[in-house]
Amino acid sequence: MVAAAQKAQTETLTEDDKELIASSWKLIVPIQDTVADLFYRRLFELAPQYRSLFKSDIEAQKRKLMAMLAFVVKSLAWSHTAWQQEVDSREDLFLVVLALGRRHRELYKVPDEAYATVRDALMWTLDYGLGQAFTVETRRAWERIYDLVAMTMKLGQGATDLGTPVKVD
Ligand code: HEM
Repeated sequence: MVAAAQKAQTETLTEDDKELIASSWKLIVPIQDTVADLFYRRLFELAPQYRSLFKSDIEAQKRKLMAMLAFVVKSLAWSHTAWQQEVDSREDLFLVVLALGRRHRELYKVPDEAYATVRDALMWTLDYGLGQAFTVETRRAWERIYDLVAMTMKLGQGATDLGTPVKVD
């Protein structure tokens, strides 16, 4: 846990990371339907066994994933002190992502190791979609935000796993 906390600390997003994510996201938005198609195609190519976890309409799921990514990107623009204000829980990135993680464990039965595969599929998709704009720095920024979100989702699943140590990497 201490090691994980240190790891998270060293991989905290920098202001440059936030700018790279925001500027590359602007390039994704106009092609987001294609990006979502590519992402799920790649995911099920890498791990066909995860296809059966998706019970609902996959087109609706594509829209939900893109909306969640848009929400994450938008939240990065918050000032460092915004959390001190009273924030609607639906707008609070931390709370939203904790709850998302809990649903992934409890409702969708997502195993921990799937987060690494989803990470690979997402990076592959961003690389394909952004082409030359997906520079080494931009990739690193997306890897950091993914790792922070995935770590927070795993913390959220700990809320129901009472008595089970939280494993965050
Ligand atoms: C950063 C990581 C992830 C994000 C941001 C994310 C986002 C989402 C969102 C927004 C939903 C819509 C439902 C809801 O809000 O509860 C969802 C559902 C789902 N996700 Fe994820 N997810 C992530 C990781 C994963 C992983 C690792 C898997 C494993 C394969 C996965 C599998 C699923 C499944 C099975 C559903 C339910 C689909 C259905 O209703 O049929 N997700 N995810």
